[in-house]
Amino acid sequence: MRDFDLSKWLKAQSTEVDAALNRFLPRATAKPSTIHKAMRYSIFAGGKRMRPALVLAAAEACGGNQDAAMPLACAVECIHTYSLIHDDLPGMDNDDMRRGKPTNHKVFGEGMAILAGDALLTQAFEIAAQCETSPRYPLKEVILEIARASGSLQLIAGQVADLEGEGQVISRSQLRYIHERKTSALLACSVRLGGMSARCSPMQLQALTEFGYNVGLVFQVIDDILDVTQSSETLGKTAGKDVKSGKATYPSLIGLEASRKVATVFTRKAFEALHPFRGRAIALESIARYLLERDR
Ligand code: IPE
Ligand code: IPE
Ligand code: MG
Ligand code: MG
Ligand code: MG
Repeated sequence: MRDFDLSKWLKAQSTEVDAALNRFLPRATAKPSTIHKAMRYSIFAGGKRMRPALVLAAAEACGGNQDAAMPLACAVECIHTYSLIHDDLPGMDNDDMRRGKPTNHKVFGEGMAILAGDALLTQAFEIAAQCETSPRYPLKEVILEIARASGSLQLIAGQVADLEGEGQVISRSQLRYIHERKTSALLACSVRLGGMSARCSPMQLQALTEFGYNVGLVFQVIDDILDVTQSSETLGKTAGKDVKSGKATYPSLIGLEASRKVATVFTRKAFEALHPFRGRAIALESIARYLLERDR
């Protein structure tokens, strides 16, 4: 694609995101230090930082700047990391590996892992509340955006349905419901926040919503595929867990080949959503391609 080097761009963005997260989070030595160590352990364990990248790329597509988008990029990464810490708990997916390391509860114990998740969720709002806002997108809109995407009608609803779907035969529309909520909602929220930080037009916000929704679905379909096709080493989390746990996934419902086709169709829709940007959404375009082709 028109000499855009995505891996260089992602590296540069994630260095900035890491530095900002380091500034926003309480020091590891701040009392009570156990909780701050636990929060930092998972935040800096080596995630792909795709949600912050989406916030920043969307801001760029709308002519905004990184400084205005950065608190929101950090806020969504805190929400995401909290959701992973809790997702890995014995009462949920019961996983021992995450981001190439032992899961939070394996290192700090279940009680502390629950609290580290709670603290990161709360931290996200504290960080988001420090962003610059505009009359078009006042702080209330920004906070509502994050709360709705992570609340019991979206991300949590998806996690609820995911748990309740274990060992059940579910329909394709039920599976879509799970993916829309547990994953797509936060990805759509990420690009919307980026747009808001750049004071985007209502039409741009609509385009970003459509884009985020579709790449969100791609993201989870590919996550399900990789669970079947990749090694734990490559993924940094235990592969093959979905079948073992009787999770409802696209590969289990329609097979690998058809799942890849589904991901391709959603990616095409994501590209189409970017038309209003007339070629100025190069980072978003490139991320969408990467999310389809990624192998970890
Ligand atoms: C994993 O997300 C959880 C899903 C929603 C599928 P990521 O694959 O983005 O995990 P990290 O942030 O890179 O660890
Ligand atoms: C996790 O989905 C979604 C959220 C944490 C909201 P998965 O359970 O498929 O994610 P992994 O495979 O453990 O990363
Ligand atoms: Mg899960
Ligand atoms: Mg899981
Ligand atoms: Mg998974």
